[in-house]
Amino acid sequence: MAPSAQRTDLPTTQEEIEDAVSNIISQLSNKKGGSLLGSYKGGFVDSNLENLPETTKKRFAKYNIDISQGYPERPPTEEIPVYLDEAEAIRSTPTPYIERGKGADPEKKALFGAAKEIRHLTKHVGTEIVGLQLGDLNDKQKDELALLIAERVVVFFKDQDLSPQKQLELGEYYGNVEKHAQQVHVPGYRGITVIWPNFLKKVGYQYNFKQTKTAPTSITHSDLCHELQTPGITTLYNDAIPKVGGDTVWYSGYGAYDKLLPAFQKFLDGKTAIYRSAHQYIDRENPLRGPKHIEREHPIIRTHPATGWKSLYVNRGMTVRIVGLEPDESRLILNYLFDVYEKNLDIQVRFNWQSTNPESGLATAALWDNRISQHSAVAIETEELRHGTRVSALAEVPYYDPNSKSQREALGLPLN
Ligand SMILES: [Fe+2]
Repeated sequence: MAPSAQRTDLPTTQEEIEDAVSNIISQLSNKKGGSLLGSYKGGFVDSNLENLPETTKKRFAKYNIDISQGYPERPPTEEIPVYLDEAEAIRSTPTPYIERGKGADPEKKALFGAAKEIRHLTKHVGTEIVGLQLGDLNDKQKDELALLIAERVVVFFKDQDLSPQKQLELGEYYGNVEKHAQQVHVPGYRGITVIWPNFLKKVGYQYNFKQTKTAPTSITHSDLCHELQTPGITTLYNDAIPKVGGDTVWYSGYGAYDKLLPAFQKFLDGKTAIYRSAHQYIDRENPLRGPKHIEREHPIIRTHPATGWKSLYVNRGMTVRIVGLEPDESRLILNYLFDVYEKNLDIQVRFNWQSTNPESGLATAALWDNRISQHSAVAIETEELRHGTRVSALAEVPYYDPNSKSQREALGLPLN
């Protein structure tokens, strides 16, 4: 069609526009996987029960999770937002939050005293606690654990027997548990999100070994940063894991900030950026333009309320642009910051989820703080067994305290 030609196929009357919009909604609903990984149809519409790993089935049977209707479950169709304004209205006003790590014993005597061993996996990122069941911790130990996660970014517990209900309870202790608008969850429990590569395949998200770096969980990211109150402590319990591989990598935001030169740190301190949601929704004002992400503005450098340390809060998956810069400047700087995060191996930990005794039926839990980190799953092929349940505790509205220090500054380590 020549640029000057008039298109005659565009809807013009109100009725034609409404028809076109309901057509788009119906196409999105019928598309496998809906918009990205979500769906506009709820319930058990895309059940993948037949592929559920045996170890997961055993866990669910032991803890009375009813999978007789199918698995996993989506929110009810009538509660899934179609329009952007509906999705934006979810959790759009601040709710009170208690920082459990703040004021906890810095020596963590209750937690460490009860553990068999405390293993630091790298100098500054990742600690494994041996000899404790996560589901048995008392409040004092949970508070000390929150502080440990705030300091070490991610903490692991191997050989666990953690029920989905206890996992949810722990999340509720740490914050307001996120209930996703579209994402699949354990039947009957909106706050327990299902992380399952084989399910992605079922809903049409296929990738082979050449494309694994673009698999949704493999792009380096921090979870749910479009939320007004982004997640703090998140628990992932992988109740099925391949015999070999299936690792996850965590990256420290404190470490990334400390890598920057003081003048560049100063430039970024106090700046904000736009963060977007993984899922998309239709713009009511401009429905024919195609689905849009939710966008939210947060500080690029944020202060952790328990440690008081500064962290670089950007990620390749969801940070769209730096506010106040030209698009080219923003793109250049963000790409550099993503690289700082992703390419410095000394601020990362790579972890294998396998139990000490794989035949035991016991599994591994990781608890990390999304405010001060990114993570990525080392991709596996979708046929391999990996299944996990995730609970995200939403924390404070992100803030930057100009008086806060970097981790190295606070620990008295050399800055150059
Ligand atoms: Fe994630």
